[in-house]
Amino acid sequence: MGTFRNSRRDLLSAMALAPLVGAAACKKKNNGIVIGAYLSMTGGEAEFGTSTRNGLQIGIEEINGRGGLLGQQIRLVVEDTRGDSTEAASAVTRLIDREGAAVIIGEVASSLSLSGGRVAQRRRVPMVSPSSTNEDVTRVGDYIFRVCFIDPFQGAVMARFAKELQVNGAAVQKVAIFRDEASAYSTGLARAFRETFTRLGGEIVEESSYRKGDTHFSAQLSGMLAKGPQAVFVPGYYTEVALIAREARAAGFTGPFLGGDGWDAPALFRNDDNKLVGSYFSEGFAPDHPTTPVGQRFVQQFSQKYRTEANGLAALGYDALVVAADAIRRANSADGTAIRNALAATRNVEGATGRISIDNERNAVKGAVILEVREDSFRFHRAIEAT
Ligand code: PHE
Repeated sequence: MGTFRNSRRDLLSAMALAPLVGAAACKKKNNGIVIGAYLSMTGGEAEFGTSTRNGLQIGIEEINGRGGLLGQQIRLVVEDTRGDSTEAASAVTRLIDREGAAVIIGEVASSLSLSGGRVAQRRRVPMVSPSSTNEDVTRVGDYIFRVCFIDPFQGAVMARFAKELQVNGAAVQKVAIFRDEASAYSTGLARAFRETFTRLGGEIVEESSYRKGDTHFSAQLSGMLAKGPQAVFVPGYYTEVALIAREARAAGFTGPFLGGDGWDAPALFRNDDNKLVGSYFSEGFAPDHPTTPVGQRFVQQFSQKYRTEANGLAALGYDALVVAADAIRRANSADGTAIRNALAATRNVEGATGRISIDNERNAVKGAVILEVREDSFRFHRAIEAT
């Protein structure tokens, strides 16, 4: 009996091991092409990661439905950065070392793309950031690309918009800036806004700062509001922006808030207690105003699959994947340097956010849209051409 059990156990374990051994032996061949995404799936920026992953997933299914790439299926592996730049670097290391990623997609937050990008660059694995807009991200090195616009453009767009705005029948002349001093995105976008706004003759009456994770802002806000700004530019992420708006209203501020793409998460209008209704921010995509057939199709597919409206992050996630897949196809190889060279030669790829070409600085040249905050959504307000 004992003998029988033992031999049976041996047989069972041999059966259980067989597919493992087989998989390990031909890992490279049968595992498909790995697309490694590093995203904030938890923490204060969790909605950035979730929206982006959902957009990526639509692209993965579409490409696999058409037979995959290089005769193989593609597989998405997502690593959580928890919104932390040290975690971002280790996530990229894991995607390369453990998962064998052919391409890295991520991050959303520029500070995290700067830290993850250094790893990808060092390892010569190409990275495509869907939505990191800080100028320095693609300067990390020649393996780093993006499919969104950059902050010098975005800041100028919002400064011009601010200068044309009327508040209570008067042209906006005095604006305050409230930025996250620990965020590359926030400080860079604040600078770009300030430069254009003052060049156009406007006045920045006060610029002060907070730090991600702060929950009280009244000390800075009271000093700022005492200077009488007609509008407040807050180039931050949605979690803090919603809180800032509530405190500023409680302190008596009635003018509009202005911001950038970091506002783009449903949690902004869920958590702002309607204090941001009538405020505006810039983005690369408006789900209620897709400009191309690919964009229209993406919005439909997204709402069918996830029962919620697509946003800029989802569309840019999809576009990062479409651009990476196009490069792998043209490289006709999963080799990092071959894919890098193909990425650099990206021209007129049809994405959800428009037609994407990569320039000499590895950036995409894109237009912007301005969105208005409503009670339970963001609505298209105006489109601005690329410059
Ligand atoms: N552009 C932001 C950054 O660079 C990230 C972001 C993009 C957030 C789009 C929301 C929507 O940090």
